[in-house]
Amino acid sequence: MEKIAIYPGSFDPVTNGHLDIIERGLKIFDRIIITILENPAKELLFTVGERIELLKQALEDYSNIEIDSYDGLLVDYAWKRNAHAILRGMRAVSDFEYEFQMALMNRRLNREIQTVFLMTGLRWIFTSSSIIKEAAKFGGNIESMVPPVVQKKLEQKFNQSLGDNDPG
Ligand code: PNS
Repeated sequence: MEKIAIYPGSFDPVTNGHLDIIERGLKIFDRIIITILENPAKELLFTVGERIELLKQALEDYSNIEIDSYDGLLVDYAWKRNAHAILRGMRAVSDFEYEFQMALMNRRLNREIQTVFLMTGLRWIFTSSSIIKEAAKFGGNIESMVPPVVQKKLEQKFNQSLGDNDPG
C-alpha cells in the first residue's frame, strides 16, 4: 500500500526549511501532499492562490508530491485523502508545546492518523516564515533562507506596499 503523508501548514510563504522537511519526508513516504490549511492565529501576507503558486514553482523539480488547500479540519482532509500520517517539522524547543498540543488534539479527533515529526535541519532551526517576512519587510537579505521565486515575490510585495505609502 502506498504510504501517503499530509504535510500541512500556512506556507506564508514556503521557506527552505519547509523544502528540507519535504525532501527528507520523501525518504520515508511514497507521496507527500502539501496542504495549505487555515491557522486562525496567523496574520497572512499571501493569498491561498499566491501561496499555491509559490509552492508549485519552488517544488517544480520534485516528484511524488502534490499541492492542495483545504478549508476545514486537518484530520478530515487526511482521512479523505487516505493518508495515515501528518508530517510536521520540529524546530527549536519553542515549537514543542504547540506541536505537542496539536498532535494530541488531532489524535483525539482521529486515532487512525499518526503525526510524524522530523527535526528541522540545523541550518533552518531558527528560520520561520514570520521572521523571514519581517526581515524582508525592512529590506534584510533573505536570499539563503527561501527559494529564489519566494525572494522575488517578497521583494515585489514589500516594494509595492512602500509604493502604496509613497505620497509621490
Ligand atoms: O504552518 P502552521 O501555521 O504552523 O500550520 C498550522 C496548521 C495550518 C497545520 C493548523 O493550524 C491546522 O491544522 N489548521 C486546520 C484546522 C485544524 O485541523 N486544526 C488542528 C486541530 S484543532
